[in-house]
Order: sequence, then C-alpha cells, then structure tokens
Amino acid sequence: MEIFRNTAELQARADAARALGERIALVPTMGALHAGHRALMDAGRARAQRVCVSIFVNPTQFNSATDLAAYPRTWEADLEACREAGVHWVYAPEPGDLYPDGFQTWVDVSELSEPLCGAARPGHFRGVATVVCKLFLAAKPHVAVFGEKDQQQLAVVRRMTRDLGFDLEIVGVPTVREADGLALSSRNVHLAGEARSQATVLVRALDAAEAAVLAGETSADALLEIAHGELANAPLAEIDYAELRGPRDLELLCGPLDDAALLALAVFFPRASGAGDRVRLIDNRVLPKPLPQEER
Ligand code: PAF
Repeated sequence: MEIFRNTAELQARADAARALGERIALVPTMGALHAGHRALMDAGRARAQRVCVSIFVNPTQFNSATDLAAYPRTWEADLEACREAGVHWVYAPEPGDLYPDGFQTWVDVSELSEPLCGAARPGHFRGVATVVCKLFLAAKPHVAVFGEKDQQQLAVVRRMTRDLGFDLEIVGVPTVREADGLALSSRNVHLAGEARSQATVLVRALDAAEAAVLAGETSADALLEIAHGELANAPLAEIDYAELRGPRDLELLCGPLDDAALLALAVFFPRASGAGDRVRLIDNRVLPKPLPQEER
C-alpha cells in the first residue's frame, strides 16, 4: 500500500495507472474508519483495479472549531483498516496542500445545499463539494464511492459531478448498521449509556414510516406524524429535522405521495463527556413508492 502526502505525486501515480488502462476507485473519508467505510472500500475494489482512500479531516466543512477539534483521529488504525481491505493508495494531504495560502475558489451546489443539514450547518456543503472536487482532481478516479447514510451529501456530489462535467461514476453504498440498527458513524463514539440506547430511535422511526407506507399510508403529514411519534419515545433525543423530500432533487414533499420519498432525520443527543456540542445523528430511508389501492 502506498501512502501519498503530496497531491502532485498522487496525480502522477494516477496518470501512470490510467496509461496502463487500470480503473481507479476513490473512497473519500475523513478517517476514523469503521465497517461502513469498509463497505465503501469493498465497493471500490469490486469496480476498479486501484482503490484510493483519501483520509483528510476537511476543515472547511465544519461549522464549529470544537466539532473540528473533537473529530476522532485514528491514523494507525485507519492505515491498518485500509491494508486489511486491500486498498492500494492512501491519500492524506496536509491542509495547506488542498487549501494553499490565499485560497478563494469554492464549489457551491446552491439549492441542494440549503435544506436539511445545510440549514443547520451553513457552508457545510460548500466545504464538502469543494474538497470532493479537489479529491477528484488529485486521484483522477473512474468511480467514486459514497455512503447513502449521507443522502444529501450524495445528492450534492452527484449534481456537482454532472454540472462540472467530471467523467466519472458516483456509486452510493447502503448504510451499514450496528446489530441494534444504529447507523455506523464516526460520531457514535461520543455516545454512551442511555443516550446510546436511545439512539436506535432513528432507525425505529424509519422502520415505522416504511411499515406505514407498505400498509397503504400515502399522506406525507401522517408519515411524519408516525416518525415524530417514534422519536418522542426517546426523551434524550431533540429533533433537528424530520422531513420528506424527493430523493434526487430534495424538494419538500407534502400531500399524498405518489412516488418514492426520502425520509430524512437529524436528532441531537447529549455527548458522553458532557462537554462541548451535543452529538448530532442523521439517518434516512428512501420509502417505497406507494402501491395503487387495488394492489395493496
Ligand atoms: O463523508 C465524509 O466523510 C466527508 O464529508 C467527505 C466526503 C470525505 C468530504 O470531506
């Protein structure tokens, strides 16, 4: 496994691989790798001869210095996880390499960045789109792999890729979960005790809404009420948002649903250490298209 700290060296390596006709898969990460990242790496390996994992805690997508400082950094364990997964290249640039002095060029996917997580975290998706664009330019991938847990990020990256004309395929990989259903996230390490047990309320709310659609419920209001009802069972949870949106364009859905709909949730829980910001967990599910009355 080769480790690149320098963008120009990775670009040269990617050019050489491309000249040999090898396909390159990029798995962008901020480190603190877990089984969810492993699923992304496996998806990359299934699609390319060279898998590049980027490990870069991107400062421009954090809204608070506390959150940035608290982000888990587990370099040695991350390298081990990459080796185990058969990754070929690890790209871990210094912040000054991606953001040189005087940096002032941003990628802003305007409308898709506004709702949901974008409303609570202004500038977050501008930071994500900009760094992902720079990672694409560094690793020159044929395919880039992202988790479906971050559906809004996936939508932003897909649109950025299309709008800027990157010649590469974006692959979304289903969310990997703990045995009790909690979606894997680097933020889960900040949960303990009662907050950790109550955190499964997100997946329970998604399950309840999906079951209701399968049982014939089509009203967006009723589905949101069902999700809110489940979330209310966790007294430590404070809802940031619970919304139904179009899966690709993220337009707000109301009234009777006639197609698949994204149910997106974000909930705050108290941080185990008691200090600093609360832990914000997100989860989502694309609810199936309601069946016509006669087929239910
Ligand atoms: O999903 C993440 O870990 C980050 O947002 C990403 C895509 C690596 C960009 O920094």
